[in-house]
Amino acid sequence: MAELIDGKRISTELKDEVKAKVAALKEKGIEVTLAVILVGNDPASTVYVGNKKKACEYTGINSKSFELPEETTEEELLKLIDELNNDDSVNGILVQLPLPKHIDEDKVIRRISPDKDVDGFHPESVGRLSIGVRGFVSCTPAGVIELLKRSNVEMDGANAVIVGRSNIVGKPMGMLLLRENATVTICHSHTKNLKEICKAADILIIAIGQPKFIDGSFVKEGATVIDVGIHRIEGTKKLCGDVEFESAEKVAGKITPVPGGVGPMTIAGLMNNCYEAACMQKGL
Ligand code: GUN
Repeated sequence: MAELIDGKRISTELKDEVKAKVAALKEKGIEVTLAVILVGNDPASTVYVGNKKKACEYTGINSKSFELPEETTEEELLKLIDELNNDDSVNGILVQLPLPKHIDEDKVIRRISPDKDVDGFHPESVGRLSIGVRGFVSCTPAGVIELLKRSNVEMDGANAVIVGRSNIVGKPMGMLLLRENATVTICHSHTKNLKEICKAADILIIAIGQPKFIDGSFVKEGATVIDVGIHRIEGTKKLCGDVEFESAEKVAGKITPVPGGVGPMTIAGLMNNCYEAACMQKGL
């Protein structure tokens, strides 16, 4: 039976570290502030934004909340972003996605100052990650790296396979594992011999957004399995991941559960990015 990687415990550990670092900044007279923008009332987004605000409270980060109606125009949203970019009391800006269809997400992401891009979605942040210079890293893949480090999973020289090539998870995940000296393969819907490739992985990371797509037959004996997916099982209140946990845990050495694995790490990563934003802006 695999050892469980406890994302809840590790995320609390990380948030406690951020809390201590934020308190130390406060002693120097520096406050950390995150602006959170939510457009419309998508129920999932409302829950996510609520959790982000709670994590700010926990870590001592100030949060400024902007809850805008569904009919908000692109121009109005861009104007608010400009104001927040120019407001020295705001260190980080987060626009919750998805946005209503009449607003161009790409344009909005590009408008956020790269110095305040705590989501790590701006092309400048992505470029910095690619060439290995200091900048903001997308919170979920950054959280996965922390999970691996704090669970003593050796990344140096490991054969890491990522299934999924999204801009938010798969691609930055590959860059981060490369930075840790892993040998990285990114698989996607056109990949041939997917099972064979997964079965050779020491570290297998799944982020494809399809419930229980990967079962134990894709996993090498003793491998570490990280499940980034989260889905509600139809007709129930239960959640599942992209991995069929029951069969995978019999083969894996270490595995993340859903819920309580990767999920809580995303917000912890965001809090750390807010702290980093304040440090960078103050030249620390
Ligand atoms: N929607 C789902 N995940 C995220 C995230 O990490 N950041 C933002 N801004 N929106 C999201």
